[in-house]
Amino acid sequence: MKIIKDCYPFIEKLNPAQKAAIKQGYLEDQHNYILAIPTASGKTLLGLMAAIKTILEGGKVIYTVPLISIQNEKIKEFKELEKHGISVGKDPRSSDLAIMVFESFDILTRFSWNTLKEIDLLIVDEFHMIGEYTRGPIIECAITRSMILNPGMRIIALSATLSNLEEIGAWLNAKVIQHDYRPVPLYKEVISLDMLNAREKNEAIVKILQDAIKDENQILVFVSTRRFTEALATFVSQKIGKKIPKETRKKFNEVADKILEIPQKSGSAPTFTCLKLAECIRGGVAFHHAGLFTRQREIIEDEFRNGNLYMITATPSLMYGVNLPSQTVIIRDYTRWTRQGPKWIPVFDYEQMSGRAGRPQYDQVGYSYLLAKSPEEAYQLREYYIQGEVEPTSSKLIENKDAVYHQIIGQIAAGLSDNPDELIEFFKKTFYGHQLTNNPNMNIFADNLEYEINSSLEFFIKNEIIRPTPTGLRATPFGLLIANSNYSVETSIKLRHLATEMDELDTYKLIYEICKTPDMPFISFKTRKGKDRVREKLQENGIFVMDVGNPEATASSLIEWINERSEYEIENLFNVYAASTRRAAYEASQLIRFFKKICEVAGVYGHSQALDMLTARLYYGVKEDIIPFVVGVKRLGRVRARRLVKTFGYNLENVNEDELQKVDGIGPKMAAAIKKYAKR
Ligand SMILES: Nc1ncnc2c1ncn2[C@@H]1O[C@H](COP(=O)(O)OP(=O)(O)OP(=O)(O)O)[C@@H](O)[C@H]1O
Ligand SMILES: [Mg+2]
Repeated sequence: MKIIKDCYPFIEKLNPAQKAAIKQGYLEDQHNYILAIPTASGKTLLGLMAAIKTILEGGKVIYTVPLISIQNEKIKEFKELEKHGISVGKDPRSSDLAIMVFESFDILTRFSWNTLKEIDLLIVDEFHMIGEYTRGPIIECAITRSMILNPGMRIIALSATLSNLEEIGAWLNAKVIQHDYRPVPLYKEVISLDMLNAREKNEAIVKILQDAIKDENQILVFVSTRRFTEALATFVSQKIGKKIPKETRKKFNEVADKILEIPQKSGSAPTFTCLKLAECIRGGVAFHHAGLFTRQREIIEDEFRNGNLYMITATPSLMYGVNLPSQTVIIRDYTRWTRQGPKWIPVFDYEQMSGRAGRPQYDQVGYSYLLAKSPEEAYQLREYYIQGEVEPTSSKLIENKDAVYHQIIGQIAAGLSDNPDELIEFFKKTFYGHQLTNNPNMNIFADNLEYEINSSLEFFIKNEIIRPTPTGLRATPFGLLIANSNYSVETSIKLRHLATEMDELDTYKLIYEICKTPDMPFISFKTRKGKDRVREKLQENGIFVMDVGNPEATASSLIEWINERSEYEIENLFNVYAASTRRAAYEASQLIRFFKKICEVAGVYGHSQALDMLTARLYYGVKEDIIPFVVGVKRLGRVRARRLVKTFGYNLENVNEDELQKVDGIGPKMAAAIKKYAKR
C-alpha cells in the first residue's frame, strides 16, 4: 500500500506476524477477526491497513481505544493520513477514521444510530480490556448493541494477551489469527538480589541502570504506587547523580527547567511534587504517575523518547500500548493491594508491563527483569509468571452493578428494549451472556441475570428513572438524563435527593457532597500529615466529619481553589497531590452542571443562577467577583484577572492599553483583548 509507505517511511517490510495475518485473508474477506499477536508486533498497522482499505472503498471506520492517552497517541500517528485525503478525528460524523475512547463509542451506540449504521468497520484496540472492571462492561455492551443495530459492520479486535480465544471468537463470530512472532526478541527473567550482589531491590535497580548507561540504554521501572515512583526516582537519581558527564548533565538540566516552566507560565509557584520531579530529573530519572500534570507527563515521555532521560519510574498506568525506547523494563513490585490484602498481580499485567521493553522503533532486543528478594522467591515467581499462562479474559458485567444499571437504562431510553424479556435477550447476547449459556455450570447465573434485571427495574421505578406504561417501559426525563451521561446511577440518585432536600444552596456543603460521589477523581493525601488541617478547614465551613480521607482532602482543596489559592499553596496546606486539583475542579464543575439539570427535572428552579456561578468558580478557580473577566477575556486566567481588578477596579472602560500593560504578565495582545472586552 502506497499510503502506508508514505506515512511510515521507517517501515521497510511487513513482519512475519503481519504477513501471516494478511495471508489468512483478514484484509480481503468480510469476516470479523481477532488478531492475537504479541506486544510490539505492529497490530496498530494491521488495524490501520484494514481501515484504509475500507475508507478507500468509500466506507467509514471507528478505531476505539480504552484510554485518552492512547487516543492522543493514535490521533497524532494517524493524522499523517490526511495528506492522502482521509479525514481523521474523534467524531465519526466528521471523519472517515474516528479514534474514540470506549465511553464515547458506547454513547454513540445508544443515541446516534444513524451514524452507527454508517460505520463499516470497527477496530477495537487493547481488546483484553473487556475483562477489566470499569471499562470492560462498557465496551462489551457497546459491541453487543452495534452487532444488533448494524449487523453488516465488520469488527477487528486487537490484543496481545488473550488466552480463551475460542470462546471470545465464538461470541464475536470472528476468525482468530494467532501468531507468536515478536519483531524484537524479549528476554524475560526473574532476578534475585544475590545474583546482583545487592542487599535490597532499589540497590539492584541502581546496578542494572549503571550497566545500561554504559551501553547507552534506557530503563522503565514499574512499581505499585505513586509514592513508590517518587521514592525510587529520588533514591536512584541521588545514587547516580554525581557521576553524570557534563554534557549529559546539561541535557538533564534543560529537561528539569522545562518541567519548572509549566507552573511559571501559569503564574504560580511550583508544587513540592514538581520541585521533586525537577530535582530527580537533574539526576537523569523521572517519575511518572496520574498525579502529575498532563503536560509534565508529556514532557517526560517525549524527553525519554529523545534520549534525554536515563530512566522512568512508573505506576502500572503506563503498561498498555505505549511505545517507549526502554530496552529494559524492571518490574520491582509484583503485589498489589486489594480488599483482601496484598495479592500477586496477574500474569496478564506482567506480560503487558514486560511488553513495554524492546519496541521495534527503538531497540533490537528487549529485557524484562522481575525482581525477587531471594532465590526461593525467584523460583516461585519464575514458575508463576514465566512458565505461567495469561489468565482467561472473562466478562465483568454482572460484577459491576452500575454498569448493568446503566445498560438497562440505556436500552430503555434508546427504545431498544421495553420489557424485561427484551432486556434478558439483550444481556444474553453480551459476552457475559455468551459465557453463561455456553458453560453448563453457569445455569444458576442465568436465573441470577433474570433476578438482577427484575430487581434493578423495581429499583428504577421506585426512583422515578423508569416508568411502566401500557405500551411498555419508558425512561422518565430523569432517566433520560442518566442515560445521556456517564455518571453512575448512584451519583444521579444521590444528587436528585440533594436537589429536593436542599432549601438553601450551601456552596461548600454541595462541593463536599459532590466529592463523596464515586464519579469524582480524588485529590489524594501524600502522607497523613495534612489530615488535621483538612478537618479544621471543613469545620470552619460548617462541615463536621469523623473520618478524614481523600473525599475530604478533595473538598477542602477545592474550597481553597475557588478562593484563588494556588496549587502550590494547597499542596503545602494539606499535604496532597495538588497537581490533580485542576482535573478535580473541572470534574466538579461538570458535576455541578449535571446537578443543575437534575434540579430542573425535579422541578427545583431556585438555584439555577447560583449553580451557574459555582460551575464557573470551579472551572476557573476564582471568587465570584472576577468571573466576568475570566469568562470574557480568553486566556486571561485568574491570576492576571485578580491583578487587573486590584489595580484598576472593576470598570476598565477608561483604562487605556498602555496602562493595562503595566500589570505584570499583560502584553500588548492581551491588553488589546481586555480593551475589546471592556468596550462591550
Ligand atoms: N513492519 C514493521 N517494521 C518496522 N516497524 C514496525 C512494523 N510494523 C509496526 N512497526 C512499529 O512497531 C512499533 C510497535 O507497534 P504497535 O504499537 O502497533 O504494537 P502493538 O502490536 O500494538 O503492541 P501492544 O500490544 O504493546 O500495544 C510501532 O512503533 C510501529 O510503528
Ligand atoms: Mg497496541
